Amino acid sequence: MGKAVNIDWKALGFKYMKTDFRYISRWKDGKWDEGKLVEDNMLALSEAANVLHYGQECFEGLKAYRTKEGEIQLFRPDMNAKRMQDSAKRLLMPEVPVEKFIDACVKVVKANEAYVPPYGTGATLYIRPFLIGSGETIGVAPASEYTFCVFCMPVGAYFKGGLTPVNFTVTDYDRAAPNGTGAAKVGGNYAASLLPHAKAVERGFADCIYLDPATHTKIEEVGAANFFGITKDNKFVAAKSPSILPGITRLSLMQVAKDYLGMEAEEREIFIDKLDEFAEAGACGTAAVITPIGGIEYKGKLHVFYSETEAGPVTKKLYETLCGIQFGDIKAPEGWILKVK
Ligand code: PLP
Ligand code: COI
Repeated sequence: MGKAVNIDWKALGFKYMKTDFRYISRWKDGKWDEGKLVEDNMLALSEAANVLHYGQECFEGLKAYRTKEGEIQLFRPDMNAKRMQDSAKRLLMPEVPVEKFIDACVKVVKANEAYVPPYGTGATLYIRPFLIGSGETIGVAPASEYTFCVFCMPVGAYFKGGLTPVNFTVTDYDRAAPNGTGAAKVGGNYAASLLPHAKAVERGFADCIYLDPATHTKIEEVGAANFFGITKDNKFVAAKSPSILPGITRLSLMQVAKDYLGMEAEEREIFIDKLDEFAEAGACGTAAVITPIGGIEYKGKLHVFYSETEAGPVTKKLYETLCGIQFGDIKAPEGWILKVK
C-alpha cells in the first residue's frame, strides 16, 4: 500500500502544492543526462542563468486522471511532448525527446500516486513539465546548458469550476506579436498577460480576451485558454491564427464534435463584432477544461451568449464527452490515452 495523504479533494483550487517527488534532467555538451527523481523542490541556478535574464523558458501542462476502476491515465501526453519541442525550437533550446518527456511524466505521476485525486471528486493531478536555459550567459545568446524538470500537484477548477459560466472582457493589450511567440508555450507570453489579467479581475471578470495583435478585430485567446463558439446552425468553431497557442483540448474537441456529436467543426477567423453568430461559447484548455462563457464585454457592452448562469446544451455535451474520455468512462479515439502502470 502506498502512502495516504490528507487532502480535501473537492475543495482544491488551482494552487501550487509541494508533492513528494519531481524529475530533473540536465543537457550539457550536446546531450541529455539520464534524469532522476528528487525530493528537493528548490533549483540551484547561477545568477547568470539565461532564464533569469533573457527568458529561455517553455513549459507544458497536462493532467493525470483516476478512472472509476482506480487506474491512472494520461491524456495525449505525446501532443504535449511535441508542442514542447516546437516551443523549444522557437527559443533555440534543445528538444526533449518525446519518449524522455513521457517517461518523466509517468515517473513523476507514479512517484506521487497518493496525490492523484480519487475518481468522482472532479479533481485531477496537474503535471507541469518545463525547460529552462540554465547555462551562464551575459551577452544575448542561447545558453550552453539546459534543465528539464517535471513536477505535479492535485488541482481543482481553474475558473469557477464544473459548468459554471463566467464573463470575460476584451483587452486592448496584446499577449503576442504578429510574428512573435504566441504559438509557443513560453513564459514570456504569460508575463505579458499578468497586467491585463489583473485589470480584468479588478473589474469583476474571470479573465480577458485577446484580439489578434495586427488588426484587433478577431478573437485570439481567452486568458490561458482557447476560444470556441457553437454557431446557431450547430457548428463547432475554433479561432485560427498564427499567434494563438495550438491547444490540445481545442484540437481534441474538434474531433469530439465531429466523431462523437456528429457536428461540423472548423477553424477560422472569429470577428469580435460578429458574436451574434454564436448560440454558445466557451474557453477550453487543460486547466480550464471547458468553461462556458456567459458573456463577453466589448466596447462597454456585455454580449451574452446562452446564459450567464447556465451552460448551453452543446457545451454540456462536449464537456461530458471530453471528461468521459479523460476519466475513462467513454471509449477514447485510438492513441489518446496512456495508462500509467
Ligand atoms: N491558450 C493558452 C494561452 C494556454 O495557456 C493554454 C493552456 O495550455 C491553452 C490555450 C490550451 O491549451 P491546452 O488545451 O493544450 O491545454
Ligand atoms: C494549462 O492549461 O495547462 C495552462 O497552461 C494554463 C496555465 C497557464 C494555468
